[in-house]
Amino acid sequence: MADRDGNIIAKNYGIGIPVEKENFHVKGMDHVDWGMKNRLSKIFNPNTGRTLMLAFDHGYIMGSTAGLERLDLSIPPLIEDADVLMGTRGALRSTIMPKMNKAIALRCSAGSSVLKEDMSHEIIGVNIEDAIRMNASCMAIQVFVGASGECQTLNNLTKTIDEGNRYGIPVLGVTAVGKEMERTTRYFLLATRIIAELGAHIIKTYYCEDFEKITSACPVPIVIAGGKKVVEAKALEIAYRAIQEGAAGVDMGRNVFQAENPKAMIKALRSIVHNGFNPKEALELYHSIKNEK
Ligand code: 5RP
Repeated sequence: MADRDGNIIAKNYGIGIPVEKENFHVKGMDHVDWGMKNRLSKIFNPNTGRTLMLAFDHGYIMGSTAGLERLDLSIPPLIEDADVLMGTRGALRSTIMPKMNKAIALRCSAGSSVLKEDMSHEIIGVNIEDAIRMNASCMAIQVFVGASGECQTLNNLTKTIDEGNRYGIPVLGVTAVGKEMERTTRYFLLATRIIAELGAHIIKTYYCEDFEKITSACPVPIVIAGGKKVVEAKALEIAYRAIQEGAAGVDMGRNVFQAENPKAMIKALRSIVHNGFNPKEALELYHSIKNEK
């Protein structure tokens, strides 16, 4: 059964052949229940099939992060342009007004910090009752494929999927990267597919070479993380390419809230995700908003 090299020779990705959908706009989700479809429709805009998420859950491992020192000041101005807020229950409850009407991707894995050499030993940090109480649109669980905590984090994922399926809450499986894990196409192909096969409804991963192989081989929607801050033009280029190559959304954090003008940056990303802007047009939009008096 074990065939570590299978991905090297794989070639039939059917790139460019759209996945057949029966009557629902989210890839691979035709056969889930009404409540789950309703939550997925809050995440993925039914008109474009895409989503723009804003990740600000960094504090769960990084503590006070540059750009997020004051969540109450940095996040509220960005809410209007995001479809989904990805945060911890602590950040959401303490700093975000519940009257805002956006989807919530609730960070539900926990148990590590940047002080640890090996961060792969996570646990489930939010139980299903609290996820329901928080009105989570999806529950985010980090998975460390190939690391010493692989089994434990896959266990977190499958347990959360079981609970999510029981109550109609989708699970967002997040592919972790770190010292022990490569950032190669081969690695992301492996990790995203494992997470999807175990039943996750959405996968978050990183943009990489041959990205369309990853989106083609993954039966559920992929959204990309941004990673460390890069110049705005580069972040917009990555977002554009990811969407062109089959991503159903963008879930950037540092490249938004650490941008010189976060509000302009989220609007520029939105123009790529939902309005068909190319990177040049999106950068022009960024600068025009940044330069507004
Ligand atoms: C990793 C995550 C974070 O939300 C994500 O990585 C943060 O976004 P960015 O990398 O764009 O700052 O899911 O656990």
